Amino acid sequence: MSLNPSEFMKTMENRMLFGDEDKATLKAYAEWGTTVASEMADHFYSYLQRDPEMNAIINEKEGRIERLRATFIEWFHEMFTGIDNWGDTYAQNRWKIGLIHVRIGIGPQHVVPAMATVVREVTKKLQAEGKGEELRIALGKICMIDLSFIEQAYVEVSSDAVLRETGWTAGLFRRLIATGAGTM
Ligand code: HEM
Repeated sequence: MSLNPSEFMKTMENRMLFGDEDKATLKAYAEWGTTVASEMADHFYSYLQRDPEMNAIINEKEGRIERLRATFIEWFHEMFTGIDNWGDTYAQNRWKIGLIHVRIGIGPQHVVPAMATVVREVTKKLQAEGKGEELRIALGKICMIDLSFIEQAYVEVSSDAVLRETGWTAGLFRRLIATGAGTM
């Protein structure tokens, strides 16, 4: 795979203006994150269950919904701790989450509204509890970085599969995409 998760993480941190102050804020609220994670998981999965297509995916396999609830809570908590201070392990973990979603066939049309749900519900909770604006901003940034990983995994896996199957060069593939976009 051409993407280096650690480099991608650094690029996204720069682009999202995610800095030391955001990291300090998230760490300071790590305990709060643990206390609200289960409630956020409830919002998240009831949102997915209201959409027939997403509901079918999450109920496809026995025990999936329970597994998903547990992994969501872990994922949510990791946004506050950064696992290894948002280093290589964090980047690898987020990349792996991206790949899992691509494998299951979950695309941008599913993931973007799902992440918007997390941001919306967390914002409501913060407002209800009168928490500071800096936490909402820091959480919004890290959610968008995590979202970028899932989205980028989709692009990387799709292009890699086409290149491997056809033997085309990356340059030719980019030209074909540009031409294709011009004809739509
Ligand atoms: C905000 C966006 C999302 C986040 C943060 C998220 C988080 C996660 C995490 C942490 C895992 C576990 C990965 C692992 O096993 O290491 C996972 C797996 C999975 N997610 Fe998501 N997810 C998101 C969106 C979605 C959406 C929109 C769907 C369904 C339409 C979905 C369905 C699944 C499924 C089916 C699995 C695999 C479960 C299994 O059988 O083990 N996810 N997700």
